[in-house]
Amino acid sequence: MKALLLATHNPDKVREIKDLLKGLPVKLYSLLDFEGLSEVIEDEPTILGNATKKAYQMAQESQMLCLADDTGLFIEALEGEPGVFSARWAGPSCSYRDNRLKALELLDGIVDRTAEFRTVVALAAPDGIIATKEGIVKGVITTEERGEHGFGYDAIFEVGALTYAEMTDEQKNELSHRALAIQAILPIIETTIKL
Ligand code: IMP
Repeated sequence: MKALLLATHNPDKVREIKDLLKGLPVKLYSLLDFEGLSEVIEDEPTILGNATKKAYQMAQESQMLCLADDTGLFIEALEGEPGVFSARWAGPSCSYRDNRLKALELLDGIVDRTAEFRTVVALAAPDGIIATKEGIVKGVITTEERGEHGFGYDAIFEVGALTYAEMTDEQKNELSHRALAIQAILPIIETTIKL
């Protein structure tokens, strides 16, 4: 059976992506399964840049087929912030909650709370990038945290009547930015693993 390395150490992403790729005839690994692979510095100015950098660097180091995901929350009233800086927006060692509270504070009193989540996924072999795809979901930033599931900004990002954190993993995986990106790249993964 072919193998696919998910180029992330983030257990929340690993859980979601493994679910989204369920049924694919491929053995899935993540960086949590490998010690010794170097940490990729996410210093590109775009999520596309970071996703391709992670996928290519990890494919070269591991000599495996690699899938990387880079995600950002883009808040309209904050001119697209935090965007590519979503991970450490509230400071170098901030928690997910610190980031959520920063968003709520900056949006205090602001009526237009439109935002979107964007994920770019990149598929790479050791000799180069094979494909990239993007998934975008529009929503609004709530006025308070709601829900216990998920991670990151899930408790303040509302789609329809529910925040991502009020959805089960299955519900989020039916409509999320990451799900859309993975669905778009799935046929390319399927073709690649047959080669
Ligand atoms: P990354 O650079 O792709 O790891 O994502 C940057 C940050 O965005 C993460 O540290 C999380 O705070 C947040 N994030 C990524 N994906 C999601 C998601 O699906 N829901 C909520 N927050 C997310």
